[in-house]
Amino acid sequence: DAVDKLRIDLLTWFDENRRLLPWRGDRAGDYLGKSLAEVPEDARETPRRVDPYETWVSEIMLQQTRVETVIDYFTKWMKRFPTPQALAEASPDEVNASWAGLGYYRRARNLHAGAQRVTEEFDGKLPSEVADLLKVQGIGAYTAGAIASIAFGRAVPLVDGNVIRVFARLFAVGAEAKAPSLIKGCWSLAASLVDPKRPGDFNQALMELGATICKPRGAACEACPVRSCCRAYALDPTQVHEYPLKA
Ligand code: ADE
Repeated sequence: DAVDKLRIDLLTWFDENRRLLPWRGDRAGDYLGKSLAEVPEDARETPRRVDPYETWVSEIMLQQTRVETVIDYFTKWMKRFPTPQALAEASPDEVNASWAGLGYYRRARNLHAGAQRVTEEFDGKLPSEVADLLKVQGIGAYTAGAIASIAFGRAVPLVDGNVIRVFARLFAVGAEAKAPSLIKGCWSLAASLVDPKRPGDFNQALMELGATICKPRGAACEACPVRSCCRAYALDPTQVHEYPLKA
C-alpha cells in the first residue's frame, strides 16, 4: 500500500545517498561527511554498530550546530569522554573546554549532568525506553525518539524541524511550522509511518531528506525519492516551498 511504498522509496534512497558520519558508525576517513553516492564501490565499508551514548552526544550537538562542524567536535569528544562514566567523572571546566565553539553551553551542562545520572541510576548505560530516556537531563521527546530508534531499534517516532517541513509538504498542510496542531499531527504521522523493521534508518532518512532535498527554500523535487507521494507537488510543483506556511 501507500505506506509501504513511502517506506521503501525513502529507505532505498537513504541506502544509496546517506551521508557518511562518525555517529553512524562509518570510518571511511576521506569520505566522512560525503554522500554514499560519491564513494567508489570498493571504498565502501559496512558501518560498525553505534553505541547509544554516541547517538546521544551527536544528537545533542546537532540540535543547534551544522553537521560539518559537529563531525570534528564529535570525534574529539568521543576520544576525550568515551563513555558516560568518563564524562560523569570529568570536571565542568574540562567539559566546557571540549564544547568551546559549539555555543549554547546549556547543552554541555545537561550532557554532563545527564551522564552523572546515567552512571548513578542506570549503571552507566543509557536506557532503551523512551519513558526512561526522558528522565535524563537534556533528553526531550526528540532526543529520546532518536536514541530509542537509532541505537536500540525501537519503532518509535521523532519529529524535528526537518520532519515538520517534509510532512507539511507531503500532506500539503496549510499551517505554520510552529503551530502546535501541526507539530502534534506530525508526531502522530511519524508514529504511524515509522518503519518497524528499520525505525532508526527511517527516522534519519526523513531528516536527511529535509536537510538535503526538501530544503526550506530550494526544494530539489526532481531528485526527491518520494515525489510521487507528495501532495504539495501534485497540487503545484512550483509552490512546494510555500509549505509550511510562513508566520
Ligand atoms: N539531524 C539531526 N540528527 C540527524 C540524524 N541522525 N540524521 C540526519 N539528520 C539529522
